[in-house]
Amino acid sequence: SVPKVSKICCIGAGYVGGPTCAVIALKCPHIQVTIVDLNQARIDAWNSSDFNLPIYEPGLEDVVRATRGRNLFFSTDVDGAIRAADLIFVSVNTPTKKTGIGAGYAADLNYVEKATRRIAQIATSSKIVVEKSTVPCRTAESMRVILEANSKPDARFDILSNPEFLAEGTAISDLVSPDRVLIGSLQTHEGKEACKALSEIYANWVPQERILTVGLWSSELSKLAANAMLAQRISSINALSAICEATGANIDEVAHAIGKDTRIGPKFLKASVGFGGSCFQKDILNLVYLSESLHLPEVAAYWRQVVEMNEYQKRRFTRHVVDTLFKTITGKRIAVLGFAFKADTGDTRESAAITIIKHFMEEKALVTIYDPQVEHEQIWMDLQEVSPTFTLQQIKRQVQIAPCALDACAEAEAVVIATEWKEFITLDWEAIYEQMSKPAFIFDGRLLVDSAKLAKIGFKVSSIGRGAEVTA
Ligand code: UDX
Ligand code: UDX
Ligand code: ADP
Repeated sequence: SVPKVSKICCIGAGYVGGPTCAVIALKCPHIQVTIVDLNQARIDAWNSSDFNLPIYEPGLEDVVRATRGRNLFFSTDVDGAIRAADLIFVSVNTPTKKTGIGAGYAADLNYVEKATRRIAQIATSSKIVVEKSTVPCRTAESMRVILEANSKPDARFDILSNPEFLAEGTAISDLVSPDRVLIGSLQTHEGKEACKALSEIYANWVPQERILTVGLWSSELSKLAANAMLAQRISSINALSAICEATGANIDEVAHAIGKDTRIGPKFLKASVGFGGSCFQKDILNLVYLSESLHLPEVAAYWRQVVEMNEYQKRRFTRHVVDTLFKTITGKRIAVLGFAFKADTGDTRESAAITIIKHFMEEKALVTIYDPQVEHEQIWMDLQEVSPTFTLQQIKRQVQIAPCALDACAEAEAVVIATEWKEFITLDWEAIYEQMSKPAFIFDGRLLVDSAKLAKIGFKVSSIGRGAEVTA
């Protein structure tokens, strides 16, 4: 019979586990959901009385306000939550390995393994264990082996793969009305029953035809494939943006024309300074590593090129800034608007802004950063990590963080738009222009602002994927 789920535990209170399980709690008032994490500060923030949550996500606070203390709980008591749960989501981090075998490519599964071992050690009754973190193919199999080798006599485990497709900045609406929910299970009787139990949870708000049930390996591979194909679209449009700049074609016009083909579709064709985020690069590199492990070097090379094009786009952008500023930016002040990897998030993981600023620092420019959501501490941490040869003191000699966009741009020679925050569209650009050195340059890395209007004010505008005609 299908196992009954009345208590859920989620291990990992991060960008994935937090919003996902908060929405489950919202939509399933009959289920008690406990989100646990080893990080006390993170749990404290989730529990804070003023709802100063550890991640910024539109709509998230409302969901937590409606559910926290009702059927949603945050705790550091990992063991207690494991013991009580019928179903456990594993939503721990899986960063790219920095050292050892597969360094720079393979996922670091240390956290997944530790969480899995903990489940085996603690559980005294049967559990459904759901892999939620993005993981390389066959991780579920490793989890199964670990769980079975360490389980207590009365505890049996069913493993499911249920990758999360939410995008940051739109997490709540993605979770409330997902394109699809994907559940992978072993095709055994028990596997299918466990799959049914998880489907029933989602069925509380997701239409049945959007709940797809597949094999474990298909599920794991689909997550990597979806992200790789999305990233590939961006690298494709960015490759075309280079041709546009060289020819005078306009990438927005090209993207619009391409996207009208229903086989291609209009979404995810925005040229940019490069994609970031915790998923795209990591998942593609996972796919490259997997392909190589399977002795498929041509497949590996194909996907690797998507990441290489992204690196090229960031380099190409900074080179264009330097070239335009009369081939030197030494000692020049450059305002960087936006530091998050996309709008509506405070997340900076793999943000293109980090790489761009690193290049500016190497060219000895003075950089002033403004971002409406990113914590200052995070900016310093990211810049230090990307430039290990600089001390924090050296970085702070070249880089400042401003409290608003207007301040960031004061006396700058150039403004670089690195994140597509809406508020940048409606800045008082005339006031900014007044305060800048002349000629005043704008480099729009997000095709965000109205270049004709800014050119009229007097700016020299360069936009990704546009020839020089508006710079006049
Ligand atoms: C992505 C996937 O969209 C999501 O389904 C998956 O679960 C996790 O990875 P996320 O990284 O949060 O989500 O954001 P996404 O909106 O996909 O953007 C990724 C990067 O691509 C951002 O840096 C964004 O600015 C950039 N991007 C996106 C473009 O440059 N152009 C586009 O047209 C779309
Ligand atoms: C293509 C474009 O579709 C059309 O818009 C353009 O004007 C001319 O080029 P065509 O070459 O006639 O049209 O056929 P199309 O249906 O695109 O198929 C091209 C090839 O791709 C065929 O060999 C087809 O079998 C193959 N294909 C197509 C796949 O292998 N898989 C698919 O999912 C789709
Ligand atoms: P993601 O974007 O995948 O959600 P995050 O890094 O935001 O990644 O969140 C993962 C969370 O998992 C972190 O807060 C981390 O402290 C937590 N975590 C990692 N390992 C364990 C573990 N064994 N037990 C509990 N929490 C863990």
